[in-house]
Amino acid sequence: MKKLVIPFLFCTLLVSCNTERSARSGDSIDSRVDSVLKLMTVEEKAGQLTLYTSDWDVTGPSIRAGYQEDIKAGKVGAVFNAYGAKYTRQLQEIAVKETRLGIPLLFGYDVIHGHKTIFPIPIGEASSWDLEAIERSARVAAEEASADGLHWTFAPMVDISRDPRWGRVMEGAGEDTYLGSLIGAARVKGFQGNGISEINSVAACVKHFAAYGASQAGRDYHTVDMSDRVLREVYLPPYKAAVDAGAATVMTSFNELDGTPATANKYLMDDILRKEWGFQGFVVTDYTSIMEMLNHGNVADSAEAAAATIKSGVDMDMQAGFFQYELPQLVKDGKVSEAELNTAVRRVLRIKFQMGLFDDPYRYSDEQREKSTIGKPEFKEASRDVARKSIVLLKNNGVLPLSKSVKTIALIGPLGKSRLDMIGAWSAAGKGDSAVSIFDGIRAKVSPSTRVLYAKGCNVNDDSTKYFGEAVSLARQADIVIMSVGEAAWMSGEASSRGILDLPGAQQKLVEEIHKTGKPVVVLLSNGRPLTIPWIDKNIPAVVETWYLGTQAGHAIADVLFGDYNPSGKLPVTFPYSVGQVPIFYSAKNTGRPRDPNNKYSSKYLDIPNDPLYPFGYGLSYTTFEYGEVNLSAGEVSANQNLSVTCRITNSGSLSGTETVQLYIRDMVGSVTRPLKELKGFQQVKLGPGEFKDVVFTLTPEDLSFYRKDMTFGPEAGRFKVFVGPNSRDVKEGEFELTDAPKMEFQVKAMKKDL
Ligand code: GLC
Repeated sequence: MKKLVIPFLFCTLLVSCNTERSARSGDSIDSRVDSVLKLMTVEEKAGQLTLYTSDWDVTGPSIRAGYQEDIKAGKVGAVFNAYGAKYTRQLQEIAVKETRLGIPLLFGYDVIHGHKTIFPIPIGEASSWDLEAIERSARVAAEEASADGLHWTFAPMVDISRDPRWGRVMEGAGEDTYLGSLIGAARVKGFQGNGISEINSVAACVKHFAAYGASQAGRDYHTVDMSDRVLREVYLPPYKAAVDAGAATVMTSFNELDGTPATANKYLMDDILRKEWGFQGFVVTDYTSIMEMLNHGNVADSAEAAAATIKSGVDMDMQAGFFQYELPQLVKDGKVSEAELNTAVRRVLRIKFQMGLFDDPYRYSDEQREKSTIGKPEFKEASRDVARKSIVLLKNNGVLPLSKSVKTIALIGPLGKSRLDMIGAWSAAGKGDSAVSIFDGIRAKVSPSTRVLYAKGCNVNDDSTKYFGEAVSLARQADIVIMSVGEAAWMSGEASSRGILDLPGAQQKLVEEIHKTGKPVVVLLSNGRPLTIPWIDKNIPAVVETWYLGTQAGHAIADVLFGDYNPSGKLPVTFPYSVGQVPIFYSAKNTGRPRDPNNKYSSKYLDIPNDPLYPFGYGLSYTTFEYGEVNLSAGEVSANQNLSVTCRITNSGSLSGTETVQLYIRDMVGSVTRPLKELKGFQQVKLGPGEFKDVVFTLTPEDLSFYRKDMTFGPEAGRFKVFVGPNSRDVKEGEFELTDAPKMEFQVKAMKKDL
C-alpha cells in the first residue's frame, strides 16, 4: 500500500485549526492530541510508545543498531542519550520530515546532577540539607540541558536507601523519608521551573518506582519484598512528593515487589500512582526492563510481557522494543484494546504538546542558545556554592581550618589529582577534564610561597604498596599532610554494589603508614556511599566527607580546608561501623529486647557495636553550637491542635556558622510498633559567635500520623517524645500527650492488592 504522507505542516494546521485558545492550554491540547491520534495507525501508535538509545552514550546492557532507520519508519517516539542542538535537530528532522505524520521526538537523558556544569552527586547535595541550593542545582541543570537539545531528564531519583552496599545510594537523598520527600520535590521544581512549556525547563522523571533502594543484600536489581505498611510509610512518600510537585513522568524500577516486577505492577502503576495520587503524566520503563520480565519469570514470552506492561498502566518501553514489535498484533488479536493503546499514546502526545514540540519541533535545538548558555560563570559559582555546602566535617581535633601560608603541604592519595573522579557517577555530559582537582583547588588557595607536594601513594583499587616509600618521604617533608582517599567514581552508581565497605585496595594501609610519621593528617574522603573507616575515625585528627563535588570540587574543598567556608553539611545516610550492621538506619524499632550490655539475651552483636560510626544527621562545624532545653507550647494537645516546639541554639564558638537544627518525634505506644525516632522538621540557622536563636517548630497532627493497625492513615492518642538536636543521636528531649486521635479528613484506606 502506497504510504500516505501527510506533511507535518498540514498535520499541524489540521490539529491547530481546532484550537480556539492559546497553543498550550489544557483543553486545546486534549483536542489537538485527539486530532493527531485519529490519524495514526496502530503501528505508529506503538512507535510513539517506543524509546531507543542513540549510540552516543551507554547506560544499559544493549544498544540497537539502526535506531535512525526506526525513527524514519515511524517506529520511535523518543530517543535518549543524544544531545546537542545540532544532533538533536538532525534526528528531529528525520522524524518530522521523513515520517508519514511528522510527529516530533522527545529527547531524554540522565541529567542527574548537572548537565555540563556538574554539581555534587545527589547524596552529596542531600548532605547540604539546603532545599534552595538543591533546587538551584536542578534549575542550572535544566538551563543547560534544555539549551543542549534535551526535553526530558531521567531524574530525580528518590529511592530511599538504607543499604550502602547498593551503589545507587549515591544517586538519591539517603535513608530518610521526610528529607527525601522534600529533596525530591525541590529537584522536580528545579528541573521543571515554571512549567514544562518553558523553553528553559525539562520534563522531570521521578524514579525508580518503586522501592528499588530496598534491593535484597544491597545487590543491584535484586528482589524487593516488604509489607504494604513499610512500602507506604517509608518508601512511597518521596515519589508522591515528586508527583505532587508536578513531575511530568515516572520511571519504573527493575525490581519486583511482592512477586510482580514494577514494570508491570498494576498495584503501583495504576492503583497507587494514578487512582490514589492522580498522576496525569506518562510512565516509562527502565532500560529493557520489559524484556527482563522473561528472566523474572512472571511472563512466558514477549507478547505477554508487552501486554502485561501496558495493561498495568505503563506507557513507554525503554529499549526493549517489545511495544514496537508486539503491540500491533496484540491489538489485532484483541489482547490489548485499541482504547488501552490510545490511553498510553495520549499521555505521551500530551507531554509533547505541552512542551510546544508540535508548534516548533526544533525549539530546543538552537545552536546559538547552546553556545550562550552552557558553562556560564554563574553556573560554575552555583556549583561551587552547593559543593561547599555538601561537605561534611566528620572529625576535627583542632587541625582545621588550615593556614593559607603554611610552609609545606603534602597531598597524598590516589584521588588527589583526579579530575574525572570528582564528577562522580551519572555525570552524563559532564567532562572530567573540566573539573577542578583537589590538588588544583589547594594550589589555587594557598600563598604562592607554600609548597604543595603530591604523591599518589597507591592506586585506588589494587593492593600494591610500591609507591608507599615516596609518599612517606614526602610526608616527612611537610608541615601538614592532606590525604585524598576513597572510591573511584565508577565504584558507585548503577551495577556497582560492594560487599565490603572499607577503603578499597591499599588505601587504609597507606593512611596507617602516613600516620606513623607523626605528622598532622587530614583525611579527605571522595566516595559515593558510606564507608567503614573506624580506624581512621579513631586515629586521624581530622576527617572530611567530600563525596564527589562536581566541576568545582577542588575549589570547594579548599574553601573549607582553609576556612573560607565553615562546613555545615549533615549526613543524610548512616555510616555503619561495620558492613555487618547493614541495613542500619536511625529510625529503627526498639524491639522486645533492646540492647542491654548487661544482659546476654538482648539485641546486640558479640563482636561489633550496635551503634553506627556516624549517625544520620551528623556533621560538625569549625564553631560549636549549644542546644538549650526543649520547650513545648503545651503538655497536652487534643484533636487538630498544633504544638510548638522551641529550642535555643547558641553559637558558643569563635566563628560564624550554619547549623541544621533537627526535630524528631517518637510515638511511645501505637496500635503497631513505632520507630525510636522520626525526622519531622529541620531549620538551618546562621549564627555569628555568641549569637543565639530560639528555633521554633510546629508539629501538626499529620506529623504524628502513620499507617495504623487497620492501615488507615492518622495519629493515635498517647504519649509522644520530641527531640531536638544537631543529629539523630545527640538530642535534647521533651514530652507531650495527644489526648485523642482527631477525625482526619485525609484518612486514606490503603488499597487492598488486587494482584
Ligand atoms: C538505567 C538506569 C536508569 C536510567 C536509564 C537510562 O538502567 O536504571 O536510572 O535513567 O537506564 O539511562
